[in-house]
Amino acid sequence: MIGQNETILITQEAIQKRVTALAAQITQDYEDKELTILALMKGSVVFLADLLRLIPIPLRLEVLPVSSYHGGTETSGVVTFATHFLPDIVDHHVLLIDDILDSGTTLKAITACILEQKPASLRSCVLLHKKVKTQPGIKAEYVGFEIPDAFVVGYGLDYQEYYRNLPEIRVLSAETIAQRSQK
Ligand code: IMP
Ligand code: MG
Repeated sequence: MIGQNETILITQEAIQKRVTALAAQITQDYEDKELTILALMKGSVVFLADLLRLIPIPLRLEVLPVSSYHGGTETSGVVTFATHFLPDIVDHHVLLIDDILDSGTTLKAITACILEQKPASLRSCVLLHKKVKTQPGIKAEYVGFEIPDAFVVGYGLDYQEYYRNLPEIRVLSAETIAQRSQK
């Protein structure tokens, strides 16, 4: 079984409750607007699936494969995504969805690219926010949980592509990092 060494930071119940509240807020804010949700893959996949089903307004969904971590637990600072994946968003209200706002490098790069296409508006929604690491001036309008500066996995978030299938958010342990780095 996975996650045996990792302690739970946010339970399934707590996530569900918060996602429900976020969805209600988003529904209210975009009720009469042309909404396009742009979800960053793969980290947001579980969050997206839960959130989306609680937003009962007309909307379009687009996904964008993005990577910024390359192996370890520290961001590489380099964000890779293919711009041909970006949908036509002229005059649409765009809501970016990501798993976690850490340094903010990812959101900054994607936001800049989207704004070039002149959407009607652009906001971001993240499940988690590691405040201590975020560069000044970068924020998400919708945040599920503020968390401490620990490397977390589960509910879509990975470590070296594993642990996305954990149903809750757990803190990756030093034992696991040591074990996996030997592989
Ligand atoms: P940023 O560009 O530094 O804000 O990092 C954002 C991306 O890094 C997220 O979309 C995640 O994929 C990844 N990331 C940052 N912190 C964590 C973590 O604690 N666990 C898993 N992935 C993380
Ligand atoms: Mg990600």
